[in-house]
Amino acid sequence: MRKKIIAGNWKMNKTFDEGMGLVTEIVAMVKDEYNGSAHVVIIPPFVHINAVSRMVSEHNNVFGGAQNCSNHDSGAYTGEVSAAMIKSCGASYVIIGHSERRQYFGEHNDWLAKKTDAVLKNGLTAIYCCGETLEEREANKHFEVLKAQVSEGLFHLTAEQFANVVIAYEPVWAIGTGKTASTDQAQEVHAFIRNLVKEKYDETTADTLTIQYGGSVKADNAAELFSAPDIDGALVGGAALQSRSFVDIVKAMK
Ligand code: 13P
Repeated sequence: MRKKIIAGNWKMNKTFDEGMGLVTEIVAMVKDEYNGSAHVVIIPPFVHINAVSRMVSEHNNVFGGAQNCSNHDSGAYTGEVSAAMIKSCGASYVIIGHSERRQYFGEHNDWLAKKTDAVLKNGLTAIYCCGETLEEREANKHFEVLKAQVSEGLFHLTAEQFANVVIAYEPVWAIGTGKTASTDQAQEVHAFIRNLVKEKYDETTADTLTIQYGGSVKADNAAELFSAPDIDGALVGGAALQSRSFVDIVKAMK
């Protein structure tokens, strides 16, 4: 059975008090209003992970996550945070290769492959992001770009390791722009990614892989996106910063 996952990536938003208020509301609303089986993942800035993960720990389907991690285990890497530290704070998921990290911090596929290894080695689930820019889509290069991102970052893994990987398709042109990929556009890419995984591994690995869509997901477009056969959830940015809009997206996943 393929796991459905709705994750809220707070990016660099929310002070500690604001964050705690938001998590308190989300946990209460999910408990009262959602009886589905999707996993809900709250992904705050590093400094809130410990508190958030503890606050969600009583709720079976709600988890904490991190937005990034180091590819190193420990040592003289000022400003970095290791996967083991994230694990020790109670988180379960780590985003790897978000387009903002690729774009602003020069993260490349080979480096992301090492980060993914660090995440998996520590018993966490990687949410590996891929997505093309507008120029790449307009030049009809998106499949080529996505294939390179997915294969170079993930295809060194064994099928067993792949069971702890989630892929998030986030077209760069849809992030924070209010311009969502159409359900057909997203479904086409998700099916393409699933087929890449099937060709590399096997049918079971491909069938059980959770592929999230991200990019201007809102309460009013979530249900339609989730109705597509290969869209298994969402990685939400802006709409995850308010409890009502985030929980409404969760509720769109039946
Ligand atoms: P928006 O939902 O704000 O477009 O952000 C998507 C995203 O980047 C989630 O990781």
